[in-house]
Amino acid sequence: MALTPLMSSTAVVLMAFAAAAAVALHPAVAAVSYDRKALVINGRRRILISGSIHYPRSVPEMWPDLIQKAKDGGLDVIQTYVFWNGHEPVPGQYYFEGRYDLVQFIKLVHRAGLYVHLRIGPYICAEWNFGGFPVWLKYIPGIRFRTDNEPFKAAMANFTAKIVNMMKSEGLFEWQGGPIILSQIENEFGPLEWDQGEPAKAYASWAANMAVGLNTGVPWVMCKEEDAPDPVIDTCNGFYCDYYTPSKPYKPMMWTEAWTAWYTGFGIPVPHRPVEDLAFSVAKFIQKGGSFVNYYMYHGGTNFGRTAGGPFIATSYDYDAPIDEYGLLRQPKWGHLRGLHKAIKLCEPALISSDPVVISLGNSQQASVFRSSSGYCAAFLANYDSESSARVTFNGVHYHLPPWSISILPDCKTTVFNTARVGVQTSQMTMERVGGFSWQSFNEEITSSNDESFTTVGLLEQINVTRDNTDYLWYTTYVDIGQDERFLQNGQSPVLTVMSAGHSLHVFINRQLIGTVYGSIEDPKLTYTGNVNLWVGSNTISILSVSVGLPNVGEHFETWNAGVLGPVMLNGLNEGRRDLTWQKWTYQVGLKGETLGLHSLSGSSLLEWGEVPQEQPLMWYKAFFNAPDGDEPLALDMSNMGKGQAWINGQGIGRYWPGYKAYGDCSDCDYRGTYNETKCQTNCGEPSQRWYHVPRSWLNPTGNLLVVFEEWGSDPTGISMVKRTIGSVCANVFEMQPSMRNWHTKENENSKVHLLCDFGKKITKITFASFGTPRGVCGNFSEGSCHAHKSYDPFEKKCIGQQRCSISVVPEVFGGDPCPGTMKRLAVEAICG
Ligand code: GAL
Repeated sequence: MALTPLMSSTAVVLMAFAAAAAVALHPAVAAVSYDRKALVINGRRRILISGSIHYPRSVPEMWPDLIQKAKDGGLDVIQTYVFWNGHEPVPGQYYFEGRYDLVQFIKLVHRAGLYVHLRIGPYICAEWNFGGFPVWLKYIPGIRFRTDNEPFKAAMANFTAKIVNMMKSEGLFEWQGGPIILSQIENEFGPLEWDQGEPAKAYASWAANMAVGLNTGVPWVMCKEEDAPDPVIDTCNGFYCDYYTPSKPYKPMMWTEAWTAWYTGFGIPVPHRPVEDLAFSVAKFIQKGGSFVNYYMYHGGTNFGRTAGGPFIATSYDYDAPIDEYGLLRQPKWGHLRGLHKAIKLCEPALISSDPVVISLGNSQQASVFRSSSGYCAAFLANYDSESSARVTFNGVHYHLPPWSISILPDCKTTVFNTARVGVQTSQMTMERVGGFSWQSFNEEITSSNDESFTTVGLLEQINVTRDNTDYLWYTTYVDIGQDERFLQNGQSPVLTVMSAGHSLHVFINRQLIGTVYGSIEDPKLTYTGNVNLWVGSNTISILSVSVGLPNVGEHFETWNAGVLGPVMLNGLNEGRRDLTWQKWTYQVGLKGETLGLHSLSGSSLLEWGEVPQEQPLMWYKAFFNAPDGDEPLALDMSNMGKGQAWINGQGIGRYWPGYKAYGDCSDCDYRGTYNETKCQTNCGEPSQRWYHVPRSWLNPTGNLLVVFEEWGSDPTGISMVKRTIGSVCANVFEMQPSMRNWHTKENENSKVHLLCDFGKKITKITFASFGTPRGVCGNFSEGSCHAHKSYDPFEKKCIGQQRCSISVVPEVFGGDPCPGTMKRLAVEAICG
């Protein structure tokens, strides 16, 4: 056996001994501590699998089920940020109810027997409005965010202490018998520190000391913060973290964000990450000695109301996570990771008590072996080749490794899991239409003045005026046109140019919409240029500037602007160009419908609503409906709409923007090779988000109010309610290796096909089955050149009429080997009914 050049076997044994001794010496000091190998809970090093579930991104009624599904998926820990702007909407006025009932969420996790990693931040990034900061924070005199600034530090210390004290008084830290084993202060500050130097360094060390001074009794982490001062642990975030080494040799290797895919933005395609690659990245991290992995996100959920950050972050925060936005299992992702977690747990005794010894098995193949003095042995066999599979010999036994994959051998002999062999089924989800709505309308006023409007010289920054209480700000000015203007005769109408810092705007001349423009996730700035029809006398120019979420990341994002900052120019008059920038402008914050509270039952009932007009911009629509029967998750199909917001019974469903089509590359995606967020995308040329989650718990059996504010003039009659259900289920599995056939344990499920329908449904039809070299993906399989003629038989026999069935993927089951010498797989698709 060759040893890694990094470490001799004596060193490994000595270090393991030293670590074990350290653990034994201090068990009573703190219930949760750490050493160089792992977090230590009640004297025991632990390999911990964690997943992010953000409590305000679902509804409390969903929490128990989400947590249970996380537990069933093999998680030990739930990680969440704390959402400051949700908890302190007004300075000193706190809110911890409904979706913001943090204590209840943590108690539910505890009840399920899981731990909590509480990322207090209070800067959280997270594609959440303003990175979690309340907007009022920006208006504290002299403030600068996230630097050595006294007003900022005072506010941050105050909120952090508030949360820590709340957790203590509820008895939620581990030493109190609660579930919190870990906290986080700040978020990915390291990269900013690089750019900003001294004041940033001073701030980072202040933040760490402030946190430690709160005596939580559990360790603090600072993610992406190489010089996290002791005893704070620096951790890694990324698609892969196997390259990462903790900044100090006595700190454990922890991965606080293993990205399960990426967020969705309006105007960009939807990212997906193949589970084979995600599992590969996690196995690789553990194989390098990592002991804590958190999936970001395990359930992504929804940015309800106006909570999405940005600008341009979509309402769906699905993240292609193992539990989908609606709270359903995403298969095969959830199931395959569950298999991975089981395999890792089988290795835990070896992992926590030894360091890996790396043995070369070929050019791109390696074994990492964990052998403890007490006799445990676990091995990870890796094939880093992104093209070809490999046959390797380890301890005298042959193993077949698919490309870009890792096999896990908890006894150093038996493969119980390979990251690229996905044995669990795929579920094809469908959105089944359950009904439409009958609508009434209310015309938003295209105007600029009411009691609260004001007039001033020049253009004002939008958030300074709205304080982000609304997306909408009207900018209105007047232009006098004399009778002698030549354009009145020659028909060459003047050109209006409006420059805005973002994020979207509509231009009206004399109350007629003449144009709509919007920025993009890469660049929120925009310019409107167009010909305008002006009449003799006074003309009204009204610009409705619309924000689409405040920035959540970037250097001093609190200073970034939105709204019409100019110049605003009119070209083509007798005088040439007239600069409107420094004229008098009248400002109106928000829409009339917002002031009237049209989204709510009380507000909407005070008015007369009319018929639905044709293509009228800035319209409010309302409809009443009864809750669809059943318990499947619900969504609104908004595919025919332009842009706006929607509410159900007064609760904000979120911003919708199907009118913004996704631009990008959606070509085929292969799990093999290094992943990045643009590698595997869908929805190119289509809306980035078509469906908008309607939590069942927001509905009454009858008489629910749906209100939509549509900016672009789209017809609401195309909106429908849909149910999310499993359409068909598929499996696509490699044949069982001969070396594994005689090995029977419960964990060896990788080379069996399992089909499972939802509760109450049965397999009614096998629409495809091929053992050989089938092609395509679920919903679109076809036979390859090799196909066993009895491929359908075992399924017809064992599966039809059943809720679940399992079939071994070995040639005998399908009438013999159709192409000896070729690596075969089985693809099958079944309908549940
Ligand atoms: C990380 C950040 C998270 C989230 C993620 C992208 O860098 O810490 O809060 O923003 O990126 O989804």
